[in-house]
Amino acid sequence: MLLNKDAFGEDFIWGVSTAAYQIEGAHNHDSKGLSIWDVFVKRKNKIFQNQHGDIACDFYNRYVDDLYLMHSLNIPNYRFSISWSRILPNGTGEINQKGIDFYNRLIDLSLELGITPWVTLYHWDLPHALESKGGWVNRDVKEWFGNYVSMCVQHFGDRVKNWMVLNEPVVFTGAGYFFGVHAPGRKGLGNFLAATHHAALSQAYGARIIKSIQSDSCVGTTFSCSHVEPFRAIEKDMLAARKADALLNRLFIEPLLGMGYPTQDLKILNRIEKYIQQDDERDLKFDMDFIGIQNYTREVIRYAPFVPWLQAKIVSAKKRKVEVTAMNWEVYPASIYHVLKKFSAYENMPPLMITENGAAFQDEVRDQQVNDSKRKTYLKDTIAQVLRAKQEGVKVNGYFVWTFLDNFEWAEGYHPRFGLVYVDFTTQKRIVKSSGYWYADFLSVRSSKHIPRHLVEQISPNGEEGLS
Ligand code: BGC
Repeated sequence: MLLNKDAFGEDFIWGVSTAAYQIEGAHNHDSKGLSIWDVFVKRKNKIFQNQHGDIACDFYNRYVDDLYLMHSLNIPNYRFSISWSRILPNGTGEINQKGIDFYNRLIDLSLELGITPWVTLYHWDLPHALESKGGWVNRDVKEWFGNYVSMCVQHFGDRVKNWMVLNEPVVFTGAGYFFGVHAPGRKGLGNFLAATHHAALSQAYGARIIKSIQSDSCVGTTFSCSHVEPFRAIEKDMLAARKADALLNRLFIEPLLGMGYPTQDLKILNRIEKYIQQDDERDLKFDMDFIGIQNYTREVIRYAPFVPWLQAKIVSAKKRKVEVTAMNWEVYPASIYHVLKKFSAYENMPPLMITENGAAFQDEVRDQQVNDSKRKTYLKDTIAQVLRAKQEGVKVNGYFVWTFLDNFEWAEGYHPRFGLVYVDFTTQKRIVKSSGYWYADFLSVRSSKHIPRHLVEQISPNGEEGLS
């Protein structure tokens, strides 16, 4: 299939995404405070081979070269996150000027290179000092977060117009406060429901604060979304799939749209009432300028009587014997199409943007090259599905690849590589993968009408097949 950037329209936003803890390293440099991830990774056997993000891609020290590399790949938009404890080492109170300086330099150089910054305010690295006071389980987190957000807008808002409030709240509350497999490693339904409600309040509160300081800002927030399907066409599996969908896809978007939590389909959520105070229902709602969709795979769900509260479980891709990525996630590009259709069907849904999409595969360096043809195919196929949704009328305005550099993949450590750019974590050497060259090529084409196809083929790097 011929995939051409022009088909998306001139205003479509193309970019790459990263997150502070996954790339920055310098975890205790220049007076940075500890985050919950700095602490969690030091606990035995929480992370694959006890790896950690102390150094990661050393982006804190190498951002200049990395931004130049990004620029050389024609990438016009860069989504990155701010490390809360780098600028507020205790979460609140005293500001760390060196942290502010770092993000100022990063923003300034991006702009100089013609790269527009898209800033995520919270990509999972809560200051440890705040976790000691209860973290997301403590309702005060809303004020702590609001204070941090307003600081960011005051310091960076003269140059940053595009903000994303939270990254995938269902993942950081689920993995971090229910299963305990991500920082801060807490478990149980009570922790999860409290954290969920406080994160849902904070996503709207944070957005309200940005708008109150910078009325011309473009504010969104991001959600992990997977197309959910029942394993078998039987009533029990269909019911299980509905519950899983409520949890995975609807838990945070529906209160934001003013619909409340999806308690009808997931009864256990009624217990969240315990944490709801007067006016909360009103305060959970906010009209975002856009909603960030982050999609990697689909989930197939079956009835499972022994799973508490849900009676549902995922049928793994391996069991289904389908093609998988290095995360053992099914390769299923059409998932993004279904998710876009589903989200756009809500009344009053703001425009959508794909703020993360990508795939981890086993990459091999040969002769200083990485020929990651599987990733390239995955990206092309997924982008084609975004176009399919757009051509059917879905308002989708942007697409960011996850991710620019191979990085620290949370509990999985460094082995799943998602980057367009390969990172040798011993030498910190970067090698642009063939998917990176493909993306650069795709992005460089101004208008297919003016460039004859045979010329496009000639200028493609690595003798690739141009734009197809
Ligand atoms: C997260 C990223 C993560 C990616 C791949 C998303 O859930 O926002 O931080 O690396 O998925 O797992």
